[in-house]
Amino acid sequence: MRLTIAGTGYVGLVAGVCFAHVGHQVTCVDIDEKKVAMLNKGISPIYETDLEEFLQEGLQKGLLSFTTDYQSAYRDPDVIFIGVGTPELPDGSANLSYVASVARQIAESVERDCLVVVKSTVPVGTNDKVEQFIKDSLVHPVRIEVASNPEFLAQGTAVHDMMHAQRIVIGIEDKHSETVLRELYAPFNLPIVAVSRRSAEMTKYASNDFLALKISYMNDLANLCELVGANIEDVALGMSYDGRIGSRFLKAGIGYGGSCFPKDTKALQYLAAQYGYNLRTVTAAVDVNNEQRYKLYRKAANRMITFNGIKVAVLGLAFKAGTDDLRESPAIYNIPLLLEQGAEITAFDPVAEENCKRQYQFSMQYVQTVEDALRGAQVCFIFTDWQEIRDVEPSAFKSLMRTALVYDGRNLFDSRAMLEAGVEYYSIGR
Ligand code: UDX
Repeated sequence: MRLTIAGTGYVGLVAGVCFAHVGHQVTCVDIDEKKVAMLNKGISPIYETDLEEFLQEGLQKGLLSFTTDYQSAYRDPDVIFIGVGTPELPDGSANLSYVASVARQIAESVERDCLVVVKSTVPVGTNDKVEQFIKDSLVHPVRIEVASNPEFLAQGTAVHDMMHAQRIVIGIEDKHSETVLRELYAPFNLPIVAVSRRSAEMTKYASNDFLALKISYMNDLANLCELVGANIEDVALGMSYDGRIGSRFLKAGIGYGGSCFPKDTKALQYLAAQYGYNLRTVTAAVDVNNEQRYKLYRKAANRMITFNGIKVAVLGLAFKAGTDDLRESPAIYNIPLLLEQGAEITAFDPVAEENCKRQYQFSMQYVQTVEDALRGAQVCFIFTDWQEIRDVEPSAFKSLMRTALVYDGRNLFDSRAMLEAGVEYYSIGR
């Protein structure tokens, strides 16, 4: 099939390379000329396992191309995917201006009957509006159908998640759209759940918010475990054998970050509020998370007289391991607090350093190894679950730091091993 994909961010780019990988003819459109030029050379603007390999394969086979020329790209494909961003607005609602601008361009350019598929995460009812908007603005008399197809990929494993998704959710209002989408996804050989468009839109928020809820529940329990003398990891282990609960997303820590959970929890709260409904479970998950991200800082602030002039090692900047993304990362919330208090920070992150330098003007030193960050430090904060940090021997904290005081927001170390190595070690919920 001939596909055009609008947007070359996480959603659009990953979809584009994967569709080309299974043999579809894919054109990706983006307004950013520099990005398009880079992508046409086979260079990925984001750090994602297998992405560059798939990208280069698609280019070499002639199945994948990138362009800023939306008029040609939207003229006559079989399917157009909208995969542009829907960032959070200050009031928590989703910013639909990118989706709207693509819808307008499609309406102006399309010259053949076409299925438009919304992959971006959008509030319930948006697909209806997109359909109406395109139909109202069409320049050529063609038939347009609109379908919803939310994505469930996680950063770091995005390509794998798309190729081996546990399910493909499609939201359709007519048989023809369903047939086209089933044919498009046939090479992936994955279960397809076909529901109404509004249910598909809702499923995306429902899934993400459920996972956010699961994490906040564990973080809430972790705080209680500390008070009553239980260990959250043992509790999670005991829970995980119950198939109804499952073993994943039970890890307590310093709160969830990233581009999806924080945004999608707020978006659903906002949506509910628009209908006069208070979605209390999600509100609770958001509240717990807002406090959880400062948990370590609070513990440390209680223990120390001051951070002024104190050498602090910050291990991990990204919101989770496997990505250079800093959006809603606990490190990014905590670093300014430490700097305000006069801390002298040395930071290590294996991939997010450049992003951090570009996006924030934190006056701190960056180093290339965990050891360099620890050398001479008086306090260490662990914000990301990188393997490079996990691999550090407990004895190294003792030998390298001036005072071996470690606050671990990811529970990467065995408390007993740290104690035996002479480290004063604080973690979450144990
Ligand atoms: C998430 C969803 O997993 C994905 O399906 C959706 O499409 C987008 O949002 P992502 O944000 O990339 O993906 O990362 P994920 O691995 O889900 O982690 C999100 C956050 O939760 C991270 O900050 C992570 O550290 C945290 N987390 C995850 C926990 O604190 N505990 C856990 O047990 C799991």
